[in-house]
Amino acid sequence: MNKRTSKDKVLQKKFEELEKKNNESLLGGGETRIQQQHGKGKLTARERIHLLLDEGSFEEMGKFVMHRCKDFGLEKEYYLGDGVITGYGTVGGRLVYVFSQDFTVFGGSLSETHAEKIVKIMDLAMQNGAPLIGLNDSGGARIQEGVLSLGGYADIFYRNTLASGVIPQISAIMGPCAGGAVYSPAITDFIFMVEQTSFMFVTGPNVVKTVTHENVTAEELGGALTHSTKSGVTHFACSNEVECIKQIKTLLSYIPQNCEDDVPRLEYYPAPESRPALNDIIPANPNQPYDMRDVITQIVDGDSFFEVHKNFAENIVVGFARIAGRSIGVVGNQPASLAGVLDIHSSVKGARFVRFCDCFNIPLLVLEDVPGFLPGTDQEWNAIITNGAKLLFAFSEATVPRVTVITRKAYGGAYDVMNSKHIGADLNYAWPSAEIAVMGAKGAAEIIFKKEISESTNPIEKLNEKVEEYTHKFANPYRAAHRGYIDEVIYPDQTRIKLIRAFQMLENKVAKLPRKKHGNIPL
Ligand code: HXC
Repeated sequence: MNKRTSKDKVLQKKFEELEKKNNESLLGGGETRIQQQHGKGKLTARERIHLLLDEGSFEEMGKFVMHRCKDFGLEKEYYLGDGVITGYGTVGGRLVYVFSQDFTVFGGSLSETHAEKIVKIMDLAMQNGAPLIGLNDSGGARIQEGVLSLGGYADIFYRNTLASGVIPQISAIMGPCAGGAVYSPAITDFIFMVEQTSFMFVTGPNVVKTVTHENVTAEELGGALTHSTKSGVTHFACSNEVECIKQIKTLLSYIPQNCEDDVPRLEYYPAPESRPALNDIIPANPNQPYDMRDVITQIVDGDSFFEVHKNFAENIVVGFARIAGRSIGVVGNQPASLAGVLDIHSSVKGARFVRFCDCFNIPLLVLEDVPGFLPGTDQEWNAIITNGAKLLFAFSEATVPRVTVITRKAYGGAYDVMNSKHIGADLNYAWPSAEIAVMGAKGAAEIIFKKEISESTNPIEKLNEKVEEYTHKFANPYRAAHRGYIDEVIYPDQTRIKLIRAFQMLENKVAKLPRKKHGNIPL
């Protein structure tokens, strides 16, 4: 036996011993660790990958990697793979790259080598133009490694940023994610969280108590409910991990592999496309709410609407759908919540979604019923100006096919912002119920006829008369249609067929922005 072969054999034996010691935690099996995770209502890192990927498609990379730290007792404790499983496989036959952190190994904390494994598949995902999916379950930077783990995080953040707009990046939070563990997901396109078992915070409840003297549980501070309703950090809150992985797969079915790919397309067989139910959707009273989701589901292919950010800023509805088999992004004001008004949160939610769609060639459909921007000190002091401008900027900059349907109100600046023709929309339709004006008739009459009303012998009658006059002039779509700002006034039941044709007509749209390094969206 030569020296080389004997060394290999020793190494092989060492690996076998390590594998045994690890109780195969990272290589399948691993009863103790599996029980540990299951006891917390969680799956193991490997089970998550198996659920996500097509059966038998996973190719693992770097499973023999071990950490290099020799401080604080780590020199005595090694785990193959160093707390993260990385590799590639397919979802619905399409290539994806995936990493899955193992909380049972040093709390899923990120070491230098753990980071290197993630970086390796990020680089491959970028090079080969396929989505990256991170299944996160981590206590943040591995404390024992100091700056090496901080450097590892920065390597990942840097790649997340470079990959932004090139490949879709999806993060699922499957356990506690603390410290640096939250910033990589924050840069990615979509965050999924699992109710009760996942948390995201920069500093946990103990630090919060020390610094601000607030008593708060992990769930209150950074649970799925908090982030899907209050902060808007997460786009999807799922009842359990299986549901979470199912939803990730659904999301993938709408989005292309990379920024140069076409959107996925399912078979479409022409059928009767009239939707008579839409004729009765707008209430007789213009101040009465209705649910914009009812409009969306009538217009798009059956059951294809997949809502994003459902419980956050409910006054705007965003999500993916299909029209004649092809993916689109839908943005709709929601009259059933705050009358569909635009405020800080809804502007930011809308802007982020519009920019995602524009990055990945997903055409945009806008359904507009908006009474304007929300007034008040809270909004002004928290910068509705800057935040509202984000939505304006996002639409103006988008070069994908863009179609708007005004169902009812299109008032004030919100008319401009919500994908008006003036900011580059390709086609704008209005239903006969559309009202396109600077503001509501009463407010308008009170301002422009103030003197006439106050000098009248019967101010109330005068006001009503002026409201009537203003309504007659502006509370309809025809003034805008005369100018060509509206391309066509359509019957609601014809909306689906008009949109099928519109998006087909726009399929090969080419639009270029002025040459620049990048724009400067008002952040
Ligand atoms: C090393 C860690 C660790 C870490 C957890 N562990 N976090 N080891 N580095 N960051 C280990 C624990 O020592 C423990 O090991 C095991 O993982 C499980 O942790 P528990 O605390 O027992 O679990 P749990 O009660 O569920 O609490 C989970 C947790 C908590 C909330 C994540 O562990 C925690 O607060 N960890 C520290 C979070 C943190 O502050 N991270 C560093 C942030 S700084 P044993 O051997 O006992 O099983 C950072 C900087 C990057 O990330 C900044 C970039 C912008």
